[in-house]
Amino acid sequence: VSRPTAADSPVDARARPTLSDPDTPFAVVDRTRLERNIARLSRRLGALGIPLRPHVKTAKSVEVARLLFDGNAGPITVSTLAEAEAFSDVGFSDITYAVGIDPHKLPRVAALHRGGVRLTVLLDSLEQARAVVAAGQEDGLTIPALVEVDCDGHRGGVQATGAELVEIGRTLADVGSLDGVLLHAGESYFARSEEDLATAAEKERATAVAAADSLRAAGLEVPTVSVGSTPTAHAARDLTGVTEVRAGNYVFFDLVMAGLGVCSIGDIALSVVVTVIGHRPDLGWVITDGGWMAMSRDRGTAVQAVDQGYGLVTDLSGRLLPDLVMTGASQEHGTLSVRPGADTPLPALPIGTRLRILPNHACATAAQHQDYQVIGSDEAGTGQAPLVEAVWPRVGGW
Ligand SMILES: Cc1ncc(COP(=O)(O)O)c(C=O)c1O
Repeated sequence: VSRPTAADSPVDARARPTLSDPDTPFAVVDRTRLERNIARLSRRLGALGIPLRPHVKTAKSVEVARLLFDGNAGPITVSTLAEAEAFSDVGFSDITYAVGIDPHKLPRVAALHRGGVRLTVLLDSLEQARAVVAAGQEDGLTIPALVEVDCDGHRGGVQATGAELVEIGRTLADVGSLDGVLLHAGESYFARSEEDLATAAEKERATAVAAADSLRAAGLEVPTVSVGSTPTAHAARDLTGVTEVRAGNYVFFDLVMAGLGVCSIGDIALSVVVTVIGHRPDLGWVITDGGWMAMSRDRGTAVQAVDQGYGLVTDLSGRLLPDLVMTGASQEHGTLSVRPGADTPLPALPIGTRLRILPNHACATAAQHQDYQVIGSDEAGTGQAPLVEAVWPRVGGW
């Protein structure tokens, strides 16, 4: 049976495809887990009184983005202009593009503004600030910009209290383009304990507030103080001074987040269905048709206390196969074997057996696929192949 093709519409109920039907490998989203993950962070930030500007880069799906706002279009963060364009086409009009702006892309930014989208750009140099100011003046537009501030040495960003921040801020403010500051706590992905996570979250908050205060002390207005990552959004105990939180991965979660203790394995909403295509009993291997093209090369758990290889294995209904790990990947082949040190026997998995692999890094794994087969419920334990209730496309490209 070939793969359902019904773009973003519900799958024809009469056909009733299940996860046994499309050709493998393919990506699956468990809608029950997805909705639970979305509700969890909304509740948490609601209690802290801080609005969420979710990062849609993980799912890159209009359907998922609508679930974030009860079917409506709210403020979002994107990682590419292709996302900004695709989401604006379906009504999202308040978008932060949270990757440093390449001046060559400013004509596309201006075009989005002319189309009625408030697209905020990110930058951390005077050069970029001048380019944004010039592009705005050329088009008679005010392009809002956030200054990226470094909080833990993991990426770009200026220092929170240096002269550079104020100089960039003033350049933008002179034409009304200064929107505020943005930080992302990259250190949080390497936390070893709940306390480490809380510390990373507080460092992100405190640095953001210090940066905003530096600008305010120079007489500049700072409406937006934007922080966020999935680990810090779930760990923050206080967000005083912050005006919005960005998190993205939390919609799907993954084994890295489970390893950090941010979620449990049972919360992971994304998986990849693969088929057993061979055996190497001499080596203790089961071979599947899902290699790194299906899972990505991401090995994020390799630096954690428990290395989960390329992913953990479940049956088609989501039930974990004890100690079975995807330990190897070539382009279109996956190798499954028993976790080193475990005395669990290799399960009998005949040719044609379908399995699901839970990913290390949901953003990277999802990016290998053009769409998601959506199943309605968390059916772990039933042993049945879940019904596919819809196929949701992803936005691709840059
Ligand atoms: C600037 C920025 N904000 C927010 C996020 C969301 O973080 P997470 O994927 O941990 O939810 C990212 C992720 O890379 C990011 O780069």
